[in-house]
Amino acid sequence: MQMVQLNDTGWAKTYLIYDEKSCKAAIIDPVYDFVENYLTTIDEMELELEMCIATHTHADHITGCFTISQEKNCDYVMWHSTPSLGVTKYVDENTTILLGEQQINFYHVPGHTEDSMLVVTDNHVFTGDFLFTGEGGVGRDDLPSGRMQAHWDSLKVMKNLDGSLLVCTGHEAPGVEMQTLDWNNEHNPILCMSDYTEFEKWQNDTTAQLGYVSKIKVALPANLFGEVPEDIPWL
Ligand SMILES: [Fe+2]
Repeated sequence: MQMVQLNDTGWAKTYLIYDEKSCKAAIIDPVYDFVENYLTTIDEMELELEMCIATHTHADHITGCFTISQEKNCDYVMWHSTPSLGVTKYVDENTTILLGEQQINFYHVPGHTEDSMLVVTDNHVFTGDFLFTGEGGVGRDDLPSGRMQAHWDSLKVMKNLDGSLLVCTGHEAPGVEMQTLDWNNEHNPILCMSDYTEFEKWQNDTTAQLGYVSKIKVALPANLFGEVPEDIPWL
């Protein structure tokens, strides 16, 4: 499967994946603010968008999924237990989606949110905020439906995956390069921990540093209800 990361600015990452032969594509974690850019890129690349995928219900940005899926008349895909409205296709561990002949599979990894999932292709794993690259560790667990113990328990899912997969995360500090799962098993502090209390301390320390999620009061209800708010203060 081919992959390009689409966001030039900000910490959020959006990925376009596509099958070169059939030109069928999916967009993963699109940000509402950049929807017009994504649609232009998809047209310029002459791709046929089959679906928008959200790795979880985001709290820090309005997802572009419901807007793009309506505009392109394609599916909005999320984990089956998601509370988010506007989703048209629910997936679980037994779901295989095809883009041409290329497969996409899904794994439940609750913790950052209850509806967090991994999206896995032949050469990439899209982790959302479940796992970041290297020192980035993992996403916070103190937002609605977040649970630290569940996050810790979900880490074992990574053991089922091929170490050569490139880890494509939902957020990354500017300049951080994507690495494989094998690399992260050695360099991500969370994947090197053997004990839950260590994880709990890391999460509590990191969350204290991060502080308040600035867009949550607008972004989270928008994503839950699948509606673009009338007033978006940052646009
Ligand atoms: Fe998130």
